[in-house]
This record gives sequence, structure tokens and C-alpha cells, in this order.
Amino acid sequence: MSTDPWQLLPDLSTDEFEALKADIAARGVIVPVVLDASTGAVIDGHHRLRAYEELRTAGVKVAPYPREVRTFVDDEDRMAVALSVNLARRHLTRKQRAELVTQLRGQGWSLRRIGEAVGTSEATIRREIASGDAIELPDRIERKGGGTYPARRPSIVVTSDRDQRRAESALRLLGETAPGKLLDLKAAEARARDAHMAQLRSVHVPERIDGPAYELRLGDLREVWADVADGSVDAIVTDPPYDDAGVPLFEDFARLAVRVLKPGRLAAIYCGHVALPEEMALLEAGGLTYVWHGVNILGGLHSQIRSRMINGNHRSVVLYASGAFTPRKWIHDTFFAEGRGGPESRPLHPWQQAVKPVRHWVRSISEPGELVLDPFVGSGTTAIAAVSEGRRFMGGDLDPACVETTRQRLEGLATQEEDEPA
Ligand SMILES: C[S@@+](CC[C@H](N)C(=O)[O-])C[C@H]1O[C@@H](n2cnc3c(N)ncnc32)[C@H](O)[C@@H]1O
Repeated sequence: MSTDPWQLLPDLSTDEFEALKADIAARGVIVPVVLDASTGAVIDGHHRLRAYEELRTAGVKVAPYPREVRTFVDDEDRMAVALSVNLARRHLTRKQRAELVTQLRGQGWSLRRIGEAVGTSEATIRREIASGDAIELPDRIERKGGGTYPARRPSIVVTSDRDQRRAESALRLLGETAPGKLLDLKAAEARARDAHMAQLRSVHVPERIDGPAYELRLGDLREVWADVADGSVDAIVTDPPYDDAGVPLFEDFARLAVRVLKPGRLAAIYCGHVALPEEMALLEAGGLTYVWHGVNILGGLHSQIRSRMINGNHRSVVLYASGAFTPRKWIHDTFFAEGRGGPESRPLHPWQQAVKPVRHWVRSISEPGELVLDPFVGSGTTAIAAVSEGRRFMGGDLDPACVETTRQRLEGLATQEEDEPA
């Protein structure tokens, strides 16, 4: 007998378990395993999971199992869900239902408490167990100590360990604000990110933050860098906004870059596809000197531009110099990303970039100990790439949430909390 607190039904017999295993070997796991978002504990699906793991250990190829990552209010809620999915499962015989109730009663549960856990009366439990009908959860569950909580909790169905971690993190960030229904992973992440950014905007972010190897500034790039000395920056790696409102900033950026960069040194600038000619014209109008057009080659399908029927798999990274370019070392103009190439998710900023390609450009145009600038820092991707490559960093953003996120990420880097930069 299992000692797992949420495995309410008795273990399957050997024959039943082998039949389940054979079915999973043939068709994979069909019904998602229910997992607790805060602890990772299995709330429902112990047998499916055991069968899946045994098959994989024996070298049988089985597709990753679907899992429903779900939030719970407390142990009573966990029990209610485990109980309701078990009691509602069609294949349970009346005898099995009765056994389940008997087992719970053996653990000290009264019929009344079982009824309360699934939001129904003792009499209903008796009647429904007797009739074999499924027990349905009501909209709200009554707490034992008074008050109620919504019966339907937010959950996300995923099929990999990585997505399970993403789902857990999105649900944790959303907390009680998540709607009580099945959510799409990407939509939940975007919702969590927006809520998190809104919350960061409500705290005071200083106009200037000085860290051990970095300096962050809050404000418009046309104003906040005025005191930075001419020719004091070794390299710029940046990703300006390229929506309609952002494109004109390419010229303002160029004016700043020409002034603060050391003569002959480079700026690597991520560009959009659609406005590329305009962006390049503005960079030159601002005084920068065109040097090269590099690319990040992204695995998988990166973007789909419907208006032009183009499937995009690269990102343009243009190199411009302040004054005449002085070549200093060989530069690879193409970064080949492993896997998908873009960030799998964008939990920190709607335009968040992957760190690895940015590291490539930081390494290509600067040396350890040198000063790298990104005046459009967003979630701090260049900051992480530069500082983890031993450069000093200066960055800023108009959005206080971005400055604060960058600060937190840089602090996480110092304490090893930042994931191995993707
Ligand atoms: C494309 S995003 C950068 C994303 C970043 N590379 C990342 O990985 O998270 C551009 C950023 O520029 C900021 N921005 C827009 N206008 C600005 C301005 N006038 N001055 C400074 N920052 C600005 C936006 O707030 C946004 O965070």
C-alpha cells in the first residue's frame, strides 16, 4: 500500500497495473497527471506515473506524459480534488467507491467530513456512493473554520519537465489573481509577467543604481546619459524598440552612440525586419558609420510575418562604428542558436531576448574589463551577458519595471540564482 498522502485508492492489483502499463506503452498517458504547482506533489495519477517511469526505465519509448499543474488553497482542497477525481472516475465500480470511502473512514474521516471535502452532504455521499453516480464539485467550497473558496482552481496542462517548471512559476507569480480555469501556458506567463511588471512599477525605483560592476539609470535615453563623458564607452550591444513609436529613436540612439563610444569602436544593434532600411538610414543620419550586417540564426520557426507571408528564422544585428572603424579582432558575423534560438518564454519582458546570442556579440566587440552600454535594457539581457562575461556594464530604460528587473537579475547573477543564461 502506498504511503503517499494523496493516493486515496488502494494500489491496483498486479494484473490491473500491467494492463495499464501495456496501454500506456501502446498509446502513451492520455489522462493528465494532476500536480501541485507549489510542491510538485502528485495529487492524482500515481499509477499512470509509475507505469510511465517503469516503461522509460526499461527503455520503452513513451511520449512525455501530460500533466495538469494546479494551484490549491490548502490540504483540504488537495484532498477534495483527489477525492472528487477518484470518485468521479467512470471506471470505478461501486465497490471501489465504497472502498475509497472506507479507506478514508479508516484514516479517521467521517462521512460528514468526506462530504464537506467535496462540498456535499453526508446523505449525498451515502446516496451517490450507493447509486454509483459521480460526485460533482460545487462552485465554492465551504471551509471547515468558516468562509468559502472557489472550487475551480487555475491549472495549466503541459507535457515536459521544463514546461512544468514554467507553469509552476507562472501560477506562483499569478497567485490569487489567476482565473479559476484551465489556462494556456503562454497566456498565463504573459499575464504573470504583466502583473509582475505592474507591481514593480508601483515600488520606488531610484533614478540611478550603482552596483559592483554596473550602473543602471531610469529615464529617456535622450536625457539620462548627458553627463557621460565623450569617448568613454568601449562597446554598445542593444535592442531598441522597433514598433512605430520606437523607430525614430534609432537616430537619437545613434547621436548618443557616436558621442560616447571610443573612436573606431562598435555598436551591435538588433533590428526589426520590416523597418530595417529606415532604421539603418536613421543610424547613419545620427552619425554612425556602417560596418557590417550580422545575423542570429534561430532554430525552429521564430516568427511568421503574415502580411508578407514570410517565415522568419533570423534576427538582423547590424554593426556600426563611431567614426572610422578600427578592426581589432576577427568577428563571426553569424550566431547559430541551438534549439529554438529565441527565449522559450518571455517571463520578464514582452520583447525579452535570449542571453546566448547577446553574449556572442558582447564577446565579439569588447574585451573583459571594458565598459559595455545598453540604453534600451528591457529585462536586462545585455546586462547579464556583459557582466557574466567579465565586462563592466551601464544600462538604462524608460520603464521603472525594466530597471528593477535588470537590477534583480544582476543581483541573482551575483548569488547564482540566474539560470545558466539561455
Ligand atoms: C526591445 S526592448 C529591449 C528588450 C531587451 N533586449 C530584453 O532582452 O529584455 C526595448 C526597451 O526600450 C525601452 N525604451 C523605449 N523607449 C525608450 C526611451 N526613449 N529611452 C529609454 N528606453 C526606452 C522600452 O521600455 C523597452 O524596455
